[in-house]
Amino acid sequence: MAILKIAKMGHPILLQKAKKVDDPTDPKIKTLVNDMLETLDDLGNGVGLAAPQVHVSLQVVIFETVSDDGKEANLITLINPKIDVLTRETSIDWEGCLSVPGLRGQVTRPNKIKYSGLDLKGNKIETIAEGFNARVVQHECDHLFGILYPHRMKDLSSLQFVSEAKHWVNRNE
Ligand code: NI
Repeated sequence: MAILKIAKMGHPILLQKAKKVDDPTDPKIKTLVNDMLETLDDLGNGVGLAAPQVHVSLQVVIFETVSDDGKEANLITLINPKIDVLTRETSIDWEGCLSVPGLRGQVTRPNKIKYSGLDLKGNKIETIAEGFNARVVQHECDHLFGILYPHRMKDLSSLQFVSEAKHWVNRNE
């Protein structure tokens, strides 16, 4: 296991389309995922990580989803993911990214999606996600297509430093 360095906005790997994983059961993929899990845990302030963020251009993401009652968190590993949007309804909410440290911005995304892909054993995963969970999965999978959340922002005026914004919460919300 190893703690990996995070690529920050400006590194070209974050703008590339990541390659599909040929064999999810390859021990190298397991090592990559374990290192990504350790890295995310070490940083302590993220809910997901995509392989390009650790300088590996492969379609691998890890993310945390929460149960409907908000009490349980699950850490999901998803390989070669695909997202189907299930509603025209959208919501707008704050997002941050470990590759864009210190900032946050408001992003509009579909409310309900189905994500599918493979786990580390090569088994198929297929899950419907709504709200916060849907947002997290979309954000992480965007990384596999060279998209960072600021690219999705319709109004850049909400892009802000968290350290600054916390002094002005009432004016921002
Ligand atoms: Ni991100």
